[in-house]
Amino acid sequence: MPAKSDKKAVLTIEDGPTIELPIYEGTLGQDVIDVGQLTSNNFFTFDPGFVSTAACESSITFIDGDKGVLLHRGYPIEQLAEHSTYLETCYLLIYGELPSKAQKEKFESTVYRHTMVHEQLRTFFQGFRRDAHPMAILCGVVGALSAFYHDSLEVSDEEHREIAAFRLIAKMPTLAAMSYKFSIGQPFMYPRNDLNYAENFLYMMFGNPCEKYEVNPVIAKAMDRIFMLHADHEQNASTSAVRLTGSSGANPFACIAAGIAALWGPSHGGANEAVLGMLEEIGDESHIDSFVARAKDKNDPFRLMGFGHRVYKNFDPRAKVMKETADEVLAELGITNDPLLNIAKRLETIALEDPYFVEKKLYPNVDFYSGIILKAIGIPTSMFTVMFAVGRTVGWIAHWNEMHSASFKIGRPRQLYTGHTARDYPE
Ligand code: SDX
Repeated sequence: MPAKSDKKAVLTIEDGPTIELPIYEGTLGQDVIDVGQLTSNNFFTFDPGFVSTAACESSITFIDGDKGVLLHRGYPIEQLAEHSTYLETCYLLIYGELPSKAQKEKFESTVYRHTMVHEQLRTFFQGFRRDAHPMAILCGVVGALSAFYHDSLEVSDEEHREIAAFRLIAKMPTLAAMSYKFSIGQPFMYPRNDLNYAENFLYMMFGNPCEKYEVNPVIAKAMDRIFMLHADHEQNASTSAVRLTGSSGANPFACIAAGIAALWGPSHGGANEAVLGMLEEIGDESHIDSFVARAKDKNDPFRLMGFGHRVYKNFDPRAKVMKETADEVLAELGITNDPLLNIAKRLETIALEDPYFVEKKLYPNVDFYSGIILKAIGIPTSMFTVMFAVGRTVGWIAHWNEMHSASFKIGRPRQLYTGHTARDYPE
């Protein structure tokens, strides 16, 4: 249980009870009011979209939206991006501390030994149309993993949870690359355990059996950083979907499939794909003003994709690192005058000066620049959210595991009912 504050919240209902509600304090961020007693006083809280609701206690990631701060187990994302790797960050998110050299080597070698998928899973792909969206494939195939791993489905068993974590972290890049290879009619590439996590992913994506594939180390480092920048983000929609699914005792593969499904939406992880579509639709810097005007028009559903965030009311710290990575990748690839990057940078400047965006504190988020890097690397737009899912898998697992490592109840929100009162079926 979190630390109880000396302060209490006193709720006085007119012509009704006065209810004293305990306040709990975190180590950082907002304190919380425990509203558990409201039910016995015939009230529920009402908070559609959970804008003001803390659904759980967690020690994995902290976000300060006003200051643009993102900490993973206390370490700022900027420092992890500069000094760490994706797999070391995976270890940190799951176990809570940075690994020793020996722990890091053991963790990495265990992940590498789980990169292959069951040979029968390869036939799953044949059931999809070639033009199936890779997220549709990933949703299906990850959920189906529970049909193959009966030895790691006992969610109350810490060892089962750990082996499932290794399998999911290790196999997501393999399944992602298989989704891509299937869509272009090329043979699946078996993982190579002599390559690191990001190098192996690029090899499975762009290698083929007919010729040697040399991984570009700058591109591999950028890919590793992209996975890291997507690793975890507190109680976002997809992580909350994983926690809610896990609260019923569902197996880890089903929970991660639920997270993939929730991530797919354009308001969430699907935004990176939508950003590219938007930049391509804008097409030229001269069209930017009209798109910004549409984004500000209440009667137009168009929103500036890659801008805004439920929590960040300042720059998303991941967007800053992503922007630097975009410059590095484009320079490495000799892309000196990328029209989409030019439009993106101009759009950012215009939006950040426009009173509408300033007043509503709408800043570029993690999805704004990631698509530009992925496109430059040669990853098709339809695979962008798959990249997000590969990186976020460790965050989903860390939160799922944190929930199972403590006592928890099945998630079961209530509602404000505004439908018909009871009425009889007509005679
Ligand atoms: C991710 O939760 C997470 O942590 C998510 C994520 C993670 O790592 O898991 O960070 C990843 O999902 C990043 C967000 C990617 N989505 C997009 O880029 C899509 C475009 N952004 C918007 O759809 C929106 O900003 C959201 C969905 C991200 C946030 O929505 P909120 O918090 O519900 O904000 P809101 O809809 O209440 O917006 C506040 C106001 C509204 O205007 P008013 O009703 O107050 O007049 O700002 C406006 C909105 O209309 N607004 C925008 C806008 N985003 C918000 N107007 C134009 N363009 C935008 N992008």
